Amino acid sequence: MRIVVARDYLELSKKAANMLASQIILKPNSVLGLATGATPIGTYSELVRLYKEETISFCDIITFNLDEYYGLDVDNKQSYSYFMKEHLFHHINIKKENIHIPNGKAQDIFLECKRYEAAIKDAGGIDMQLLGIGRNGHIGFNEPDVKFEAMTHLVTLDEDTIGANSRFFKDKEQVPRQAISMGIKTIMHSRKILLLANGIEKADMIYEMINGKITPELPASVLQLHPDVTVILDGNAASALKIYEIP
Ligand code: PGA
Repeated sequence: MRIVVARDYLELSKKAANMLASQIILKPNSVLGLATGATPIGTYSELVRLYKEETISFCDIITFNLDEYYGLDVDNKQSYSYFMKEHLFHHINIKKENIHIPNGKAQDIFLECKRYEAAIKDAGGIDMQLLGIGRNGHIGFNEPDVKFEAMTHLVTLDEDTIGANSRFFKDKEQVPRQAISMGIKTIMHSRKILLLANGIEKADMIYEMINGKITPELPASVLQLHPDVTVILDGNAASALKIYEIP
């Protein structure tokens, strides 16, 4: 696992965007795994900037998002589909047919999960997967006590996640209780993983993810077993690691 500590959120976002940009430059038809949440917003705006200055093009890029709330329509402002359009897809030259996000309104969830896994396989697998980490150690919506062997599946959100995500909704009651998420196995099959974390509330989880035991109670700990993980942190998220001076 490579650990990179950035001065602040802006520098973290620039470093993450540069890593994604170099993946795109080296392989213009890369398959990217994308994440939502507050953490990657700065990375997406840097990617948009790099696209606008013609450093990168998304014309042959294929994307798969990690997850989507169950029951939310693509036009719902709280859906991850909407989030991705707002922060990235509307501002770049990606082809609509190359964008993949689980369908939160699918009639048959089991089939939808199977379809999603098959689409990832047909695309040749994920070259680089972007991840955030929840305060409870989740990646995607793989909550504590996850089954490491799970592929894309319907998950019930943890109380902590519902609380954390309520900041994006009018109130906690409006946060969906379920979501469709890539499983740990799906994530572990990605060739490269780029995990981002900023803020002091992530510091303990980051310490445990890197130094703790590998356990389904802390889903992100499984990344210790992946051969190509880069973790980019701001000084606060890195503060429990101690070996780093906070810049
Ligand atoms: P955040 O969420 O980026 O909004 O902190 C991360 C996550 O839950 O994976």
